Amino acid sequence: MLHVNENYGKIQASYLFTEIAHRVAAHQAANPGADIIRLGIGDVTEPLAPAVVSAMHKAVDDEASRENFHGYGPEQGYAFLREKAAAADFAARGIDIAADEIFVSDGAKCDCGNIQELFAGDVTIAVTDPVYPVYVDTNVMAGRTGANAGGRYDGLVYLECNAENGFVPSPAALEGAPRKPDLVYLCYPNNPTGAVATKAQLQQWVDWARSAKALILFDAAYEAFIRTPGIPRSIYECEGARECAIEFRSYSKTAGFTGLRCGYTVVPKGLAAYAADGRPVELRPMWTRRQTTKFNGASYITQRGAEAVYSPEGAAQTKATIDFYLENARLIKEAFGKLGYTVAGADDSPYVWINVRSDSWEFFDVLLKRLNIVTTPGAGFGRAGEGFIRVSAFNSRANVLKAIERISKL
Ligand code: MLT
Repeated sequence: MLHVNENYGKIQASYLFTEIAHRVAAHQAANPGADIIRLGIGDVTEPLAPAVVSAMHKAVDDEASRENFHGYGPEQGYAFLREKAAAADFAARGIDIAADEIFVSDGAKCDCGNIQELFAGDVTIAVTDPVYPVYVDTNVMAGRTGANAGGRYDGLVYLECNAENGFVPSPAALEGAPRKPDLVYLCYPNNPTGAVATKAQLQQWVDWARSAKALILFDAAYEAFIRTPGIPRSIYECEGARECAIEFRSYSKTAGFTGLRCGYTVVPKGLAAYAADGRPVELRPMWTRRQTTKFNGASYITQRGAEAVYSPEGAAQTKATIDFYLENARLIKEAFGKLGYTVAGADDSPYVWINVRSDSWEFFDVLLKRLNIVTTPGAGFGRAGEGFIRVSAFNSRANVLKAIERISKL
């Protein structure tokens, strides 16, 4: 008899954004004429940068000729993209990351979900609460947790993020933890709270990880939204991070690639975890092996598009789009602030994190059913998200202004 992976049975309900999509679809079906404004999932709305579009048109033409045709690409991604990423995202900021430490993929979500395969089944995982659900759910699927009770999985270490700690927990929060984590997932600028971590705060985590022989999985998918001077865009700005951190990058929010799919993961040379006998084992060859076995790369056309993000025109055009979304975020923050809500995020992030002082799914339903506005209930990101909603700034200005007008009537 074929047995299923019963760990799937431990997962709470459906994936957060799938549940929201179902509720929105039901509302739309019941109210066919409703003009629904979607400020829920962080999906971009603005067109691709012209430099990206023309690079992809050219890449399509390459595929149409025998001389320039590309089949399977190199296993880590094309050198033209890895070299540009290493130069612009790291070397230009004084960060020591080489092109052969960059692994191009079809997006940060897949890499964040797949990376846990490199680690033993019994490692202890720490996540922030609230948290991007992918970090948790993939470890639940892999059997690294017990059952869920009261919104938390047995065996996971939760680092609570709240207004008191500015939504950035410190390693001191681990002092009372029942188990010492081996892996910590951190995401800054944060999804969902929009908080950013200072260099000193990240350095504390790096120092902790080195002394604990632990590893940080750093999700930097939103780094392009940072405008506050001095806020690190990469964990590798911290001293010693090459020895204890893997970083995920994405072109989704940076350059509007949610539908194209492209990102990359940095696994520095020399970065190691340990075998049962205490022997260090390098992670970069393991990740290479995993990717070459299970993944055939992002398409040539997409990688040419991503390369164009680093051209002078592409960089200026994508920055302008991010500035546009940041202005949306500022407007949303201001609108909820005027209504008397305590609002976080938005300054260096496309997400606005609003303390609605009531059940977050109920508030979500009120906004959907009364105002035709989709948001994300904070409770969907974890127990500490209860009482909050996340509003995404990814939309047209017209829709954001229309949503603000509706909200002002709350
Ligand atoms: C979100 O809304 O949290 C993101 O769009 C999810 C993702 O990037 O996968």
